[in-house]
Amino acid sequence: MIINSITQAIQQALGELNLQPSALKLEHPADDQFGDWSSNVALQYIKQTDKFSSPKELAAALVEKLQVILTKETDIQEMSVAGPGFINFTLSSQYWLRQLNEINQVSSIQTIIPPAGQGKRVIVEYSSPNIAKPFTVGHLRSTIIGDALANLYEVLGWEVLRDNHLGDWGTQFGKLIYAIKTWGDREAISKSSRPIKELVELYVKFHQRAEEDSTLNDYGRAWFKKLEEGDDDARSIWQWCVDLSWQEFDKIYTKLKITFTENNGRGYGESFFERRMEQVLEILREKLPQDESEKNGGHYGEGEDGAKLVFFEDKALPSLMILKKDGTTLYSTRDLATDYFRLKEFKPDLVINEVGAEQSLYFKQLYKIEQMLGWYKPKQRVHVKHGLYRFKTRKMSTRKGDVIWLQDVIDEAEQRAASLSSDNQASVEQIAIGALKWNDLKSEAARDISFDWDEILSMKGNSGPYVQYAAVRAQSVLNKREHQQLSIPANYDFDQTELALIKYLNRLAEVVTKAAEEFTPHHLASFLFELAQRFNTFYNQNPILTARTQDQQQVRLSLTQATRLVLSEGLALLGIQTPEEM
Ligand code: ARG
Repeated sequence: MIINSITQAIQQALGELNLQPSALKLEHPADDQFGDWSSNVALQYIKQTDKFSSPKELAAALVEKLQVILTKETDIQEMSVAGPGFINFTLSSQYWLRQLNEINQVSSIQTIIPPAGQGKRVIVEYSSPNIAKPFTVGHLRSTIIGDALANLYEVLGWEVLRDNHLGDWGTQFGKLIYAIKTWGDREAISKSSRPIKELVELYVKFHQRAEEDSTLNDYGRAWFKKLEEGDDDARSIWQWCVDLSWQEFDKIYTKLKITFTENNGRGYGESFFERRMEQVLEILREKLPQDESEKNGGHYGEGEDGAKLVFFEDKALPSLMILKKDGTTLYSTRDLATDYFRLKEFKPDLVINEVGAEQSLYFKQLYKIEQMLGWYKPKQRVHVKHGLYRFKTRKMSTRKGDVIWLQDVIDEAEQRAASLSSDNQASVEQIAIGALKWNDLKSEAARDISFDWDEILSMKGNSGPYVQYAAVRAQSVLNKREHQQLSIPANYDFDQTELALIKYLNRLAEVVTKAAEEFTPHHLASFLFELAQRFNTFYNQNPILTARTQDQQQVRLSLTQATRLVLSEGLALLGIQTPEEM
């Protein structure tokens, strides 16, 4: 690879100037007019030598050496010193023609992405909604971002386990069962078009009544106890809630084209760990010191009221409760059981939890405990956090207590998307869902995102429909061509818009690798947006099918074909489909 020849040559040049070579990283200049690769070695190494008075001078000396070392490297067209001492490398047209030819030979981008993850296994946990509760926009974000990450790891050759940590256990189910038995009409709820809404209303009612009459809480606790003990009545009501919720989740996942691989596609929810918590509690008792005199990152002890907590050494983090004073387990207890199960059962190289930023502290505590137990090493566990939605339009504003029902959001997206496509229903759905997903993926996950219908479904700005449209446009050109094998000429004089396109297409593998390694799918979205823009510029300035010469036509068709491939498969990695027409 050319980048390897360049780095090796730089190291040799450094050696020839009696400088100690070390690992180097090349970057792309911000503007590709300045070159394709850039090195800042001169700025880095100037401190190690007194032979040169400025980085610029050192860069010039290095370039002189490089000219000799790289004489045979015909792919490099130009080397130059720029700014305070950067060395920029511009690659030749020959090189770019070859790249274009290569990308045109492949029928899937999989072929051009190095399988760096082969032999490695990652668990990506995402979505994780709660039973008998609304599927919130937070769960939507987790679903979209988690799925994109899973796709990225998959294309890099990792074995990906897609898990859903459903909130289907906990003391709240005792309250819900009491409410259902006291005020609920199960038959009516089953038949309702919005069964979950009705369950949520019952749950809210419980809390309202419990404020007036606290004995209700005792009834709730009693029902949870029955549930834990396997009481038939309690179990069957709980199962009924689970089934109703899955009816709703299934609809959403089908719409969003989301799947999970674990536990028959349902994921290992919290209830799965009901019988697996005892073992983990024992491990905590055995492996962690019982009082703070022993130093091992922290200890497992009793709180003032008798609850059991993990206390962190020097109060590095607030303590985390593991067992309530009445001996009942918590969310944290189930997470520990989950992670122990994952470790033993799957031996993952990496575990990713895609969960809202509001749980940051909790995951820090959890990971720290798992390190203290020797389960996972620091970089083996990652909390990928997402921020909140900020609603611009008044209609969607969340007044206190108001829930946003995801189904309503999807319906509205489809209504609005209908104006962007003819009457092809499949395309409308792909545009609507694509627009929603893009809005979640276009900026850094941890940041809050604004939710503005006009922006989301705009065909002009940084939106899903804009990028989809570029892919559709490319396809429509390809549809008009007579079917013949494209042939790339041996020599060609690229124009600026053509070069801008091939250079960018060639960065796909780099971008995918970075997006996975840094858990930042937005890098892929930014790349696709820029690629769509470059394609549009190219398309607006150059006749393709009616190009002046045969060579020109072949090169432009090849560029169009490669763009179409990278855009639609790149979008697919983000979980977004390319419509047939727009
Ligand atoms: N069900 C939880 C919620 O809605 C999210 C679960 C996240 N994953 C985990 N392993 N704790 O807040």
